[in-house]
Amino acid sequence: MEGDIKKDLIKLYREEFGRIPDIVTSAPGRINLIGEHTDYNQGYVLPVAIDRRTFTAAGKRGGELFIAFSKELGKKTSFEILQGKFEHTNFWVNYIKGACNLLSAQGKIEGTNFAIGSTVPRGSGLSSSAAYVVSIIEAVAHLYGVDLKDIEIPVLAQRIENEFIGVQSGIMDPFVAKFAREGSAILIDTKTLEYRYIPIPEGCSILVCVTGVKRAIATTEYNKRRQECQEAVACLSSILKKEVTSLRDVSIDELRNVEREMDHVLHLRALHVVTENDRVVKTSAALLNGDKEFVGDMMLESHMSLCSNFQVSGPELNAYVDIAESLDGVYGSRMTGAGFGGSAICLVDSKAEDELAKKIEREYKSRGYENGCVFIARTGSGSRVERN
Ligand code: GLA
Repeated sequence: MEGDIKKDLIKLYREEFGRIPDIVTSAPGRINLIGEHTDYNQGYVLPVAIDRRTFTAAGKRGGELFIAFSKELGKKTSFEILQGKFEHTNFWVNYIKGACNLLSAQGKIEGTNFAIGSTVPRGSGLSSSAAYVVSIIEAVAHLYGVDLKDIEIPVLAQRIENEFIGVQSGIMDPFVAKFAREGSAILIDTKTLEYRYIPIPEGCSILVCVTGVKRAIATTEYNKRRQECQEAVACLSSILKKEVTSLRDVSIDELRNVEREMDHVLHLRALHVVTENDRVVKTSAALLNGDKEFVGDMMLESHMSLCSNFQVSGPELNAYVDIAESLDGVYGSRMTGAGFGGSAICLVDSKAEDELAKKIEREYKSRGYENGCVFIARTGSGSRVERN
C-alpha cells in the first residue's frame, strides 16, 4: 500500500508541476502504548510508530512562491513565504508555512512545489499531523541543505504545532515520527529527551479501534488540561514547600498526603500524571520481561485514570475498552492519544488478531456507533528520505 501511494504521488507531482520531484520523504503515524498526557509534564511516554505514513514530494521552483497540493483533500494552494500567516480556510497549509518559515531562519529557502499524500487516517488520534509536518521538515531541510541535527526535527515540529497551529501539544508525536524503529516502542523521557527502544514481545499484535468521532472541544480541552497541570505545579510548589518545576518532581505519596489541601480537580489531574509515569516505567519493564498480561493490566489502569482523573475519554472510547476487555485473547485495551474521540488500542494475542479485530468492530457497530472500524497495525519506522 505504501509503495502504491509513493508512486501515485510522484505521478501526481508530475501532472501538477510538469517534472519529477527533487526529493520524496516520509514519516509514520503512531499509537501510544501508554503514557498519556505526560509529555507536556516532563514525564515518560511509550509510543510505537505504525505502518501508515505521510509522503511529501518536493522540488525547487525558485523565486518566492510556494505551491502545495494535498492528495487527500484534492486541494492546491499557493503562498509566499514572507506572507506566511495563519489561514483558517486552508488549515493544512499552516504546517507547510510553519516549516518553511522556521527553517528559513537556519538557511536560505526558496519557492518550492509540494505534493503530499498519506495513509494515516486523519482526525483519528493517530498523529497524522506529526507525520505530515515531520515529512515536510525533512523534505525542505534536505532540499536546501539546512543543517539540522536529528533531535532538532521533532523540536521544530512541536514549535510549528504550538506557534502556527495553536495546539499546545508536547514532543511525543514528532519524536516518534522521527526516531521510531520497527518492532519496538520508544520509551522517551520527555524531560531529558533521552530514549530507549523497548521491543514489542513476540506473539502479540496491536489493534487500532477508530471511533469515527472527533469532538470539536478536543483542542480547547487539551489546552485546558495543560493549563490545569501548570496550576497544579504552582499549587504543589507552595503546599510541599519545595521547588516543583513539573509534575515529574512529585511522588505518588506526596500527592496522596496533600489531597485535602488541594483543589479537587487539580488534584485529580496531577494524580493521573504522576501515576501514569509510574505505569509507563512498569509497562516498559514488563514488555522487556515478556509479561503481556501485566502490560494489559497497566493499559486498563491507564484508561480508567484517563476517564475518571484526567477526564478525556468519551462513550465511544469506553465502549471499545469495555468490549475488548471481555474477550479472550485481549491482553489490554485503552484510549490512545489526546482523547475526546480518536482511537483506542488493544494489545492482543497474534494468533487471534483477525478474529478479534472483526469481533470488536462488529460489537462496536452493534452498539450504534456506525462509523467505527478496527484494523491491525504493524509497527513502522521513523522518517526517511525515500528518494533523492
Ligand atoms: C496529543 C499530543 C501529544 C500528547 C498526547 C496525549 O497526541 O500531540 O503531545 O500530549 O496528545 O498524550
